[in-house]
Amino acid sequence: MESLPMICFVEAIKEETPDVRTYRLKFKDQQKNTNFAWLPGQFVQFSLFGSGECTFCIASSPTRKGSFECSIKKVGTVTSDIHDLLDEGREIGIRGPYGNSFPIEELKKKNLLFIGGGIGIAPLRSLIQYVLDSRSDYCDITLLYGARTPIDIMYKNEIEDWEKKHSVKVILTVDKADEKWNKCIGHVPSVLENIVKPQIENTKVITCGPPVMIKFTIQSLIKMGFQPREIITTLEMKMQCGIGKCGHCNIGSMYICKDGPVFNCEQLKSFPGVY
Ligand code: FES
Repeated sequence: MESLPMICFVEAIKEETPDVRTYRLKFKDQQKNTNFAWLPGQFVQFSLFGSGECTFCIASSPTRKGSFECSIKKVGTVTSDIHDLLDEGREIGIRGPYGNSFPIEELKKKNLLFIGGGIGIAPLRSLIQYVLDSRSDYCDITLLYGARTPIDIMYKNEIEDWEKKHSVKVILTVDKADEKWNKCIGHVPSVLENIVKPQIENTKVITCGPPVMIKFTIQSLIKMGFQPREIITTLEMKMQCGIGKCGHCNIGSMYICKDGPVFNCEQLKSFPGVY
């Protein structure tokens, strides 16, 4: 883990939705492209020189070497500057990777149920790519993904590939449909209970999304019979320094950046308001 920013440049930019772009990043120092090691669930501190720093999860899998990707939603000053100023070829600073990771060994030989909402699918994508690169190590894989409207669905083509080429059962839902939409309409927890109806035995759930979605999704899962330790979530709210110094991400007795961002719901029981 490096504490000084390492210089990266933007190799490619993909428009995911009207307010989310995925940036493919490469280190200037070729050696670092080979040596940079991270695990699904970890995040980096991203510096746009002259503008500021933000933390973003790494949205691609370490099994796909040579570059890494961050999906960034335009929500504040720094992220607006990133969208407006960060063109292909431009340099940025990266520190990290930071934080813990998804418990990869615990997921082997299990059914995996991924539940994402909005940009919360970004850290899940890193893990989904990781498991699909060793597909035979896992049993059934299901993705329930919810967005506000059809144009807010990220990674559309890739999700189609997961379904067609890797036997992932995909359930997409939106809060508000358009005339072409022929999939689910409704909030993630109600689609989970009424349509997905997941198998509980031998299943691990991995979820990420807006806090209100996480809260009601976890409540639904527990009502359905899942044990809290089988539900894993990544909490990315309120991170600023990323290294346990600023206190912004403090929740209960823990720091999301240092002790997380990945927790199981057994660990979250004492955290106020998470579920
Ligand atoms: S983000 Fe600063 S202490 Fe966690």
